[in-house]
Amino acid sequence: MNIVFIGIQGSGKGTLVSNLENHIDFKLISVGLLLRQEVLTGSELGKHIHELQMSGSLVENEIVLSVLKKNLNSNDKPYLIFDGFPRTLSQAKELDKICSVDKVIYLKLTKDIALERLLNRLTCKKCGFVSSKDKHQTCPNCGGEMAQRADDTIEAINERFKLFKNETMPILKFYQDRGVLFEVDANQTSEEVCNSVLRLIK
Ligand code: AP5
Ligand code: MG
Repeated sequence: MNIVFIGIQGSGKGTLVSNLENHIDFKLISVGLLLRQEVLTGSELGKHIHELQMSGSLVENEIVLSVLKKNLNSNDKPYLIFDGFPRTLSQAKELDKICSVDKVIYLKLTKDIALERLLNRLTCKKCGFVSSKDKHQTCPNCGGEMAQRADDTIEAINERFKLFKNETMPILKFYQDRGVLFEVDANQTSEEVCNSVLRLIK
């Protein structure tokens, strides 16, 4: 089953993915994470991606699709999960050429709560584990350093929110018309969000 997670920045897509690991076996395609991994290599492409991410802009389709396809070789897991892709109608149409989309889960959250969460977020520099300032100073997964994400500045967050409204929200109707869109209240505890999603996909 191929599943897409859509939600405003800070709605908990990455957190949900971590929690699902305790319940189901899946292959994950997190475009934001894959792009940040490219940044860590220090390549010219990575430098370009870093600049765009720092300003909260979207990375060009051509780059996103190439990173995506490189990581989308065969999948022998029962679930394939996309976190943060597609983000535009044109990406949704590209995804149709790659695979079927069986369920789209929209994590619904207000901008105010999302902002509060992003400003309190810490992410592991090494493995991408997501937590918050009051919980972890060191990564419980790999012992890596937990730090504020470089694009969690007010300016970049506002730009990301604007892009979410203008570019990503229209995808919801696209998938609703196909009957594959499901909404989950993201203002529940992360365990409750995970259980709601499990009920929808199992
Ligand atoms: P990406 O890495 O995908 O970031 P994002 O879209 O901004 O989303 P976030 O990761 O910020 O939020 P999240 O929903 O995962 O929340 P999280 O679980 O961390 O993309 C980054 C950049 O890469 C983009 O800006 C763009 O430049 C580029 N990019 C990526 N995809 C692209 C694409 N398709 N096309 C073009 N460019 C692309 O949770 C946030 C905080 O809330 C954490 O502290 C967490 O502990 C807390 N939290 C989570 N759930 C709960 C809960 N239920 N209750 C209380 N707190 C919670
Ligand atoms: Mg994320």
